[in-house]
Amino acid sequence: MQNGIEPVAPAEITANVLESFAGADSARLRELMQSLVVHLHAFAAETGLTQEEWQAGIAALTATGQITDERRQEFILWSDALGLSMFVDALAHRPPAGATESTVLGPFYVPGSPLRDYGARIAEADSGTPAWVYGRVVDAVNGHPLAGAEVDVWQNGDNRLYAVQDPQAPEHHLRGRFRTRDDGAFAFVAVRPTPYPIPDDGPVGQMLKATGRHPWRPAHIHMIVRAAGYVTLVTHIFDRDSDYLESDAVFAVKPSLLRAFEPRAADDPARPAGIEGDWCSLECDIALAPGLERTVTDPGRTA
Ligand code: BEZ
Ligand code: FE
Repeated sequence: MQNGIEPVAPAEITANVLESFAGADSARLRELMQSLVVHLHAFAAETGLTQEEWQAGIAALTATGQITDERRQEFILWSDALGLSMFVDALAHRPPAGATESTVLGPFYVPGSPLRDYGARIAEADSGTPAWVYGRVVDAVNGHPLAGAEVDVWQNGDNRLYAVQDPQAPEHHLRGRFRTRDDGAFAFVAVRPTPYPIPDDGPVGQMLKATGRHPWRPAHIHMIVRAAGYVTLVTHIFDRDSDYLESDAVFAVKPSLLRAFEPRAADDPARPAGIEGDWCSLECDIALAPGLERTVTDPGRTA
C-alpha cells in the first residue's frame, strides 16, 4: 500500500472490463466478449502467465497477421491445430442417424469452382493415380435421392499441394462442382489424394515443433454438398489406408468418413472413358439432413 491507496486486484480488473461491455447494443456480442475476457483472464491467472510469455504470445499473433494473405490463412490454421474448428463444428451439428458427418473446411477452399459435367476430370495436369469417385446424394431420413444437389470438391495432388498453394498449377486444378442427376448420382475423375503437412513454416508450425507435434494430415478429398431444404454439409472423404488417420494434425478424422480406394487394373472392363493405365475407384454416398442451408464463405481470401 502506498499513500493509503490499495493496489488494484486482478479480480477488479476483470470486473471493470466486463462492465465496459454493458452498453453493447447486441446482447450476443456482449455475452461473447464478456465470456472471452473471463476465460482469458482465468487462463492468465491459472498459469501465472508472465509478461515475457504474453509478449511471446503477442509476437505469435503479430506473425500470424503478417503471414496471412489471399493465399495463406494462418488464423484458420490456429483454429484447426488447436481443435477449435472441430469443437465448434461438433457444437453446430447433431446430425440425424445415417446423415454423413461433417468435418473442418480448412484453409484451401476457393468458392466458385467451375461446374463440370458428370464423370469429368478435376485434374488439369498430371497429379497421380486417377480415381473414379461416384455415389448418390440422398435424404438422410427417408433415403430418397436428391436431384440437382451440388457436390463441390477440392483435393491435393501427388506433389502434396492444393492448387492455391502451387504457383505452377492451373487456377481450377483439382477442384470442381458437380450437379446430381435425377437419381441423385454424381461422379468425377479425381486422383488418389496423398497425406500432406499443414503449412508449418509460420507461427503454427513453430508451435507444433515446440510442443513435439507433427504437421501431417491423412489423405482425403474435400466436399461441400448443398441441396435446397437440407443442411449444407462440409466434409472430407478419407482414404482408409492412409497414414496419420490416428494422429491428424487438425483432429478432423471421423471413423464414418473412411472409405476404400479400390485399386483397378488398366484392363478392368469397368474403366470409365478418359482414364488410362492403372486407376482406382471410390464409392461414397452422401446423406444430407433436412434443414437450413448455410453459405460457406472463405474468410481467408478477400477477392
Ligand atoms: C485441409 O484439409 O485442407 C486442411 C485443414 C486444416 C488445416 C490445414 C489444411
Ligand atoms: Fe485438405
